[in-house]
Amino acid sequence: MSAAVNTAFDFRSHDVEVLGSRLHYIDTGPVAGNDEVVLFLHGNPTSSYLWRNIIPPVAARGARCIAPDLIGFGRSDKPDIDYRFADHVRYIDAFIEALGLGRVTLVIHDWGSAIGLHWARRHAERVNGIAMMEFIAPVPAWSDWPEHLQPVFQAFRTPGQGEAMVIGQNIFIEQVLPGAVVRGLSEAEMAHYRAPFVDPASRRPLLAFPRQLPIAGEPADVVAVAEAYMAWLATSPVPKLLFWGTPGVLVTPALAARYAQTFPNLTSVDIGPALHYVQEDCPDRIGAGIAAWIDSRRPARA
Ligand code: BEZ
Repeated sequence: MSAAVNTAFDFRSHDVEVLGSRLHYIDTGPVAGNDEVVLFLHGNPTSSYLWRNIIPPVAARGARCIAPDLIGFGRSDKPDIDYRFADHVRYIDAFIEALGLGRVTLVIHDWGSAIGLHWARRHAERVNGIAMMEFIAPVPAWSDWPEHLQPVFQAFRTPGQGEAMVIGQNIFIEQVLPGAVVRGLSEAEMAHYRAPFVDPASRRPLLAFPRQLPIAGEPADVVAVAEAYMAWLATSPVPKLLFWGTPGVLVTPALAARYAQTFPNLTSVDIGPALHYVQEDCPDRIGAGIAAWIDSRRPARA
């Protein structure tokens, strides 16, 4: 567990209008003489708050750090859409263009990884590097999904049950999130994570994501996207940095070893004990690791 966990969210808020809705983001701003832009993409049920302890060491090395809240998450708007993966792709594609970003380094987690990797595969010439952790890959069968999570995630995907658990009982925020952090989360941290999802209607985006995890071939559109970016990762020379913990959830030590053998130009970093929300357990190792990795690539790109 990390000693450097800070609860406060000490960043200036920014908003941009994208596809008729307001996306909230944090942006440490351009740095004179340094064009490194690092784009942080969170997943379910988090927000830019997830990156609060990781951005400072990366920004301190002179990178411009940008972290949006996905549509329906954090302080972004909640338009009346289905919150399918394809919707998130449209909003983040438009966000990147609205900010006029050119080349970026992606730092990605959970659904932010699927959105970011799909963008990277389609814009490979604009990708300086990809730092990933607990990322989403196709899961061939339910028996490959972590055993302790099989009943709850199968229930999320069952009509009626999923609504009762995620929209009614707020289980994704109250149980899944703190249950996937080794150290647990403090009340102050939980207050940040609860704030966007106080009323049941606001929780629809939380339910849409587990219903689209690419498990056992379903849903076919998300499986196809995830298979395509996995194939791209296995051939692309783009620099990759993989943080993995033990036991992990989506990226177990065994999967991390497999990725280290099959993805070219990958640096693999063991961050120690961690579950799914690795940023909450190991922010100092992840922040310092990204900063050092970006530094190490600088001469090659000059
Ligand atoms: C997910 O949303 O992908 C997820 C959340 C918690 C544990 C495992 C997966």
